[in-house]
Amino acid sequence: MKIGIFDSGIGGVSVLNEAYHYIPEAEYIFYADVDHVPYGIRTPEEITGYVDEIVDNLIGRGSDVIVIACNTATSVAASFVRSKYELPIIGIEPAVKPAVETAMKTKERVLVMATPVTIRENKLKTLLSRVDKTHVVDLLPMPGLVRFAEAEKFDDPEVDAYIEEQLAVYNKSAYSEVVLGCTHFNYFKPAIAEAFGSTGKEVELVDGNEGTVRHLAELLQIDAEFDPDIDIEDFSNRTIYLQSGREAGEADRQKYIRLHRRLEMIRNY
Ligand code: DGL
Repeated sequence: MKIGIFDSGIGGVSVLNEAYHYIPEAEYIFYADVDHVPYGIRTPEEITGYVDEIVDNLIGRGSDVIVIACNTATSVAASFVRSKYELPIIGIEPAVKPAVETAMKTKERVLVMATPVTIRENKLKTLLSRVDKTHVVDLLPMPGLVRFAEAEKFDDPEVDAYIEEQLAVYNKSAYSEVVLGCTHFNYFKPAIAEAFGSTGKEVELVDGNEGTVRHLAELLQIDAEFDPDIDIEDFSNRTIYLQSGREAGEADRQKYIRLHRRLEMIRNY
């Protein structure tokens, strides 16, 4: 079985990484739209055009199912490609529901970080009107993190300064849950935890990866369980990586291995 996974860039590798652990028997094609990243500042029409082309490409390469490993692309283009193509297409969404459920218990607030497009779009608004009845959710666009991620700047004083600056008007101690509503943000878990930790506070970082992969496994009728002991380099070597449709060269393949290693290293945040 072939699973096609795509994102504007490297964020989706975090979904791919999770999928290796839950569905090791599949073959993977990963498509990063490097020619058009970042999506988070583009128009819905532009993004829909890119997504259409990617889905068409992944179908042409024999994908049985497609995962949109990009919250931004899901919010503007998932329904369009689902109505146009016949194969199952799964999209990632900010994991607001479990975060709100926990915040109801802690009696604290939820901060959803995402791209400006995800924050503006109706999809998130509709989700919030369903799950955030008591208005405990605040929204924060963090487009700068996408640029840092693409430059592989993860543990860097510039990143810390940017996060602090973005959080400056928020009362950090009001939050118990931070939703990472953009797959690129997963690489910054240590920096985000530290920004809240500096107030003596431990926040829970909630991403949508596990939920998305479990949904994928259900759809494929696979009894998926997390396998912690996989050889990540071996999995990455068996993956087809596409850079806006072109097969990745050696330097990019090495980059993907580095990214998987980082994701393994910060898995417990
Ligand atoms: N990784 C994408 C997401 O999950 C978007 C990053 C971008 O702006 O391209 O929203």
